[in-house]
Amino acid sequence: MSVTTKEIWKTAGEKINKNKCKVCPVCDGKACGGLIPGMGGMGSGATFRNNIEAFAKKNLVMRVLHEASDVNCELTLWGRKLSMPVFAAPIGDIVSQIDGHLSIPQYTQHLIDGCIKVGTLASIGDLIGCEPFAGAIAEIKGRGKSVIPFIKTWVRDEFVKKFELVAKAGCDICGTDVDSAGLAGLRNSPTPVNFWTAKELSACIKKVKGFGMKYIVKGIMTVEEAKIAVDCGADAVLVSNHGGRVLDYGQGTAEVLPEIAQAVGKLTIVMVDGGIRSGADVLKALALGAKATLICRPAAIAVHGDEQNGISTYFANIKNELIHAMRMTGCKNLDEVSGKIIC
Ligand SMILES: Cc1cc2nc3c(=O)[nH]c(=O)nc-3n(C[C@H](O)[C@H](O)[C@H](O)COP(=O)(O)O)c2cc1C
Repeated sequence: MSVTTKEIWKTAGEKINKNKCKVCPVCDGKACGGLIPGMGGMGSGATFRNNIEAFAKKNLVMRVLHEASDVNCELTLWGRKLSMPVFAAPIGDIVSQIDGHLSIPQYTQHLIDGCIKVGTLASIGDLIGCEPFAGAIAEIKGRGKSVIPFIKTWVRDEFVKKFELVAKAGCDICGTDVDSAGLAGLRNSPTPVNFWTAKELSACIKKVKGFGMKYIVKGIMTVEEAKIAVDCGADAVLVSNHGGRVLDYGQGTAEVLPEIAQAVGKLTIVMVDGGIRSGADVLKALALGAKATLICRPAAIAVHGDEQNGISTYFANIKNELIHAMRMTGCKNLDEVSGKIIC
């Protein structure tokens, strides 16, 4: 018998420590401001909420006198065909942040299995120490083409050690959350994260490209830095503010996405995350210029609610909502999505 997302959330609520995440029916940052360690946003939680509100403020333009009843939301990304432009976003230390029943390897395994089941990509986050990261990477088990690991801005030797694990696991896409230097706990760790200069970013991209892999720069919120990422050789720029966990009172990602897409969208692939909670939000992000989107917190709740089935059910729902929104705005496929459908 199939389980509904409501039931998945109910079970997740029983498994997750309520002091880390309130498992709200809509994950909007209202109940968890400052809850770090935990799933909240930094400080007042304003940036997390701004992400949600920035998408909520945008509206879709309804069009129904057309032939778009057969809608296809497939995306081809670097040669792989994906069922939809929605991926699971990375979480590094899921155990300290949600304190549920799953270990990091178990969480990673279920996330990957569920994403493969719906035909999309899972991301793996990074955390202090090589061993726990290696534990997550070990779960890739020959499925490297379905996974994007994100390695943080560690001092260089640590980055290289982790990158080699990723390359050995058979991944052909990886990236760096260049905003990770804003995570206070990691700045003070034995192998600290740092702010990277363009020169350091360039050197890392060169190393990754030497292995024939694609590289995503995650954590970009300005046109200026998007251009730097492109100049350094990024294959994709991911507009993101780490879900509001690195700066309080920051802008929502949907606010800055259009200008970034306008500036670099013809030179690189623009992706976005932060506050995307429905298929309509996904369509809004695409109409604002993104080629793909990522969802983080609800995906983590879904995995805790019903493991592989939880995430595949949650993502199947998002896909159905996206297809409906595309149909109602007259978009037969992703190529037909444009700024015309949003206001
Ligand atoms: C608990 C938690 C841990 C995270 N860990 C990482 C990480 O290790 N690497 C990373 O690139 N982003 C990390 N992020 C940021 C997410 O990947 C993503 O950018 C953001 O949460 C998207 O916003 P959403 O939760 O509103 O969908 C983390 C976010 C949360 C909530």
